[in-house]
Amino acid sequence: MTTNKIEIKDLTVNYVDNKRSFNALHDVSFGVGRGEFVSVIGASGCGKSTLLSVLEGLYAPAGGSVQIDGRELHGTGSERGVVFQHYSLFPWMTTKKNIEFGIKQTRHGLKRSERAKIADEFLTKVGLADSGSKYPSQLSGGMQQRAAIARALAMDTEILLMDEPFSAIDPKNRVILQELLLSLWEGDGSEERKTVVFVTHDIDEAILLSDKIVVLTAHPGTVNEVVNVPFERPRSRADLVRTEEYGRFRNKLLSLLNTDIAERIGGDEVVL
Ligand SMILES: Nc1ncnc2c1ncn2[C@@H]1O[C@H](COP(=O)(O)OP(=O)(O)OP(=O)(O)O)[C@@H](O)[C@H]1O
Ligand SMILES: [Mg+2]
Repeated sequence: MTTNKIEIKDLTVNYVDNKRSFNALHDVSFGVGRGEFVSVIGASGCGKSTLLSVLEGLYAPAGGSVQIDGRELHGTGSERGVVFQHYSLFPWMTTKKNIEFGIKQTRHGLKRSERAKIADEFLTKVGLADSGSKYPSQLSGGMQQRAAIARALAMDTEILLMDEPFSAIDPKNRVILQELLLSLWEGDGSEERKTVVFVTHDIDEAILLSDKIVVLTAHPGTVNEVVNVPFERPRSRADLVRTEEYGRFRNKLLSLLNTDIAERIGGDEVVL
């Protein structure tokens, strides 16, 4: 019996393009524990978004399996919420209506007024209490992504799938959003944490947020190594980066990413 919330076993994914089959992921295996925050890092094109599409149930694998709570995954499900790189709010709904709509998809049986109350709570949590009646086009990119996070959290799914949600945000706001996500996910300990699979290019982001980091090799994506993040929670970026251990750990991740690149260019390990 599996103890993991998500169990990925020998996952292989192919795309068919112009009648040619293209291997995007090969024999990928790792587990995500209940309430665990797992990041997936790897070079562009190594199959990170493909992996999330499979977990979301949008794309069927060519081989292997994905189980959620011990049951084979088939199609999309209301236990999974998603946040993408590009702002995914509906442009024709106000910010608050976007959140209410999300809640309606996953939390059945709530009255309209209850959905509105929850939407207000989450807008406040992400600092958008005054922006609920604005349309997404009236918000900055960072504000739109805050709203997308508010919607995903308000939907209260057991699993959150996030594909580079902060990559289009400027560095300053990115740091603010990372810390916001961290504090909302860590919570005050009174509620069970959500199980998160988070795709990123950013090593520091992965370290700050994750319990565990899955390093994929470049094309086709295979698991190079699964690394446990050794830093206690609650975490703050300022405290983390001051420690020597942080630098060592960061270098280890960089060299795991770079061994793969070095092999491809036929050189020694690249040290950045
Ligand atoms: N629908 C598709 N049809 C054919 N090939 C695809 C399709 N989607 C992705 N690919 C290819 O599969 C590989 C993995 O793509 P994927 O988008 O999963 O990479 P990624 O790791 O998310 O990259 P990035 O970091 O740039 O977002 C790439 O070579 C890409 O060109
Ligand atoms: Mg991607």
